[in-house]
Amino acid sequence: MSDTVYLNGSFLPLEQATIPVLDRGFIFGDGVYEVIPVYSAQPFRLDEHLGRLALSLEAIRIHNPLDMEAWRNVVIKLINANRHLDDQSLYIQVTRGVAPRDQAFPNPEVAPTVLLMSMPLVTPSPALIESGVSAITALDIRWQRCNIKAISLLANVLLRQEAVDHDVAETLMLRDGYLTEGSSSNIFVVKDGVLLAPPKNQHMLPGITYDVVLELAQAHDLPHRIAPVSEAQLRSADEIWLTSSTKEVLAVVMLDGVAVNDGKPGPIFKRMYALYQAFKNQVMRPKR
Ligand code: PDD
Repeated sequence: MSDTVYLNGSFLPLEQATIPVLDRGFIFGDGVYEVIPVYSAQPFRLDEHLGRLALSLEAIRIHNPLDMEAWRNVVIKLINANRHLDDQSLYIQVTRGVAPRDQAFPNPEVAPTVLLMSMPLVTPSPALIESGVSAITALDIRWQRCNIKAISLLANVLLRQEAVDHDVAETLMLRDGYLTEGSSSNIFVVKDGVLLAPPKNQHMLPGITYDVVLELAQAHDLPHRIAPVSEAQLRSADEIWLTSSTKEVLAVVMLDGVAVNDGKPGPIFKRMYALYQAFKNQVMRPKR
């Protein structure tokens, strides 16, 4: 069965969905996106993802093409049209639309291009949760507005490929001696029993999973602090975790070829992983 996508008001098979070459997403990377995990046909933290999408659109001055109710309806319809997939990774992209090539916004304004598609959600395997993953560090070569979930991801693409070239899972980025985030994830560290999270600012994406992890830490009295994390703190951390909608919470056990602590996922990671799974199952999986 072929996957169904939503493009500019219509639901159609992926193979039939096409956009004009002058779409500003294609020409300039002029657009924003979201990735929403869908478990048992239920979107996780949908309103938060749609809220972040609204902020990204506002930040790049594209009028939000749909209101919250309309977004919710399209998302639910798309999930249901792709019920042959188990859990889904639902992708939303909005670009500034189709216009002759000129960096300035089209004047008059044109209709944004709206695409939604679903892919299989592949979360880390039990073996990977057990073993943890390796990562490397690199300078954060991105722009100053990383809080916008922009589709122009060239720096992230190059950084992520560096990870692949080194046969590791992620590239952790450092800017001016401080940890920002991963090429497609947020990063937490644990030191002396305290969970440290870099503060949300223009140098990182305000992750939805990041928020869930901090909420769980708060709810379960896990000591935590939101504070800048220096390179020295990162390199001497007892635990390092990465979080994202598709990776959930995953332990980094090797950084730049050096073991993090004893090179195994730590006790606080294990606790958070269990809390995260319990929370997810409680809010997402249908009651039997
Ligand atoms: N990426 N930071 C960056 C740069 C990201 O691209 C992502 C997510 C995150 C984590 O955000 P969230 O918890 O809301 O997924 C942090 C998605 C999954 C992607 O681009 O595929």
